[in-house]
Amino acid sequence: MLARDWFYNERRQLGIDSAVARQSAIYDSDDSGSRARSTLTRLGVQRGQRIADIGCGNGILACEAAQMGAEVHAIDISPAMLALAEIQAKDMKVAIKTQSAGLLSFKYEPNSFDLVVSEFTLHHLPDFWKAVALSRMFSALKPGGRLFLRDIVFVSAPDGSERGVEQWADFNIKNHSFSRADVMTHMRDEYSTFGWVIERLLADVGFSLESADYHGPMHGTYLCRKPAQA
Ligand SMILES: C[S@@+](CC[C@H](N)C(=O)[O-])C[C@H]1O[C@@H](n2cnc3c(N)ncnc32)[C@H](O)[C@@H]1O
Repeated sequence: MLARDWFYNERRQLGIDSAVARQSAIYDSDDSGSRARSTLTRLGVQRGQRIADIGCGNGILACEAAQMGAEVHAIDISPAMLALAEIQAKDMKVAIKTQSAGLLSFKYEPNSFDLVVSEFTLHHLPDFWKAVALSRMFSALKPGGRLFLRDIVFVSAPDGSERGVEQWADFNIKNHSFSRADVMTHMRDEYSTFGWVIERLLADVGFSLESADYHGPMHGTYLCRKPAQA
């Protein structure tokens, strides 16, 4: 898509995510390496595969994938997060290719990735732009390639959302050092949507949905495939 004067400025979310050290403390935890390894193992990551992690944050999953022998492109809109990813790569003595760009602007060769991963990032875009981002991921994947998407989504129907958000807030405040202010920022300034909207967007973009799992009130995980004959 050509840049237009109405094109969404994805960098505007940078202010929201600016407290890098604190952000890293929220997103990283002692078991984040082993959780990333088990996700990648479940996804069958193998040596030589080309993987993009879009919204890679501090790069834990990207570096674990590189350690498993994949060629990894770690992409994030925040230069500060990418700097953390580079430190992580150095510490783990692995090579990753970093790209300072967003879901709407990352550069790619069409049909070139075996796997695209994007965790807890798509909610930074309004729904129209989520569709644009998903269709760019679709185009970047090889026929038969897969998208692993995880995000904060509303699982319940609109009349249950208030309870869902409060349960999610309580869980994150108790378990992930979130503050009430983080919860308010997410609800006020970010763009979580319904799980069924995500499923419909994935289908309309052309993916076949292999699984959609919802945990707790606001957590959706999707595994999809670009058809071999796309
Ligand atoms: C909640 S963090 C998740 C990081 C990592 N994927 C994880 O699960 O730990 C969201 C990340 O998305 C990045 N981000 C925000 N908007 C983005 C966009 N439009 N394109 C790419 N990355 C974006 C932020 O800089 C941040 O690193």
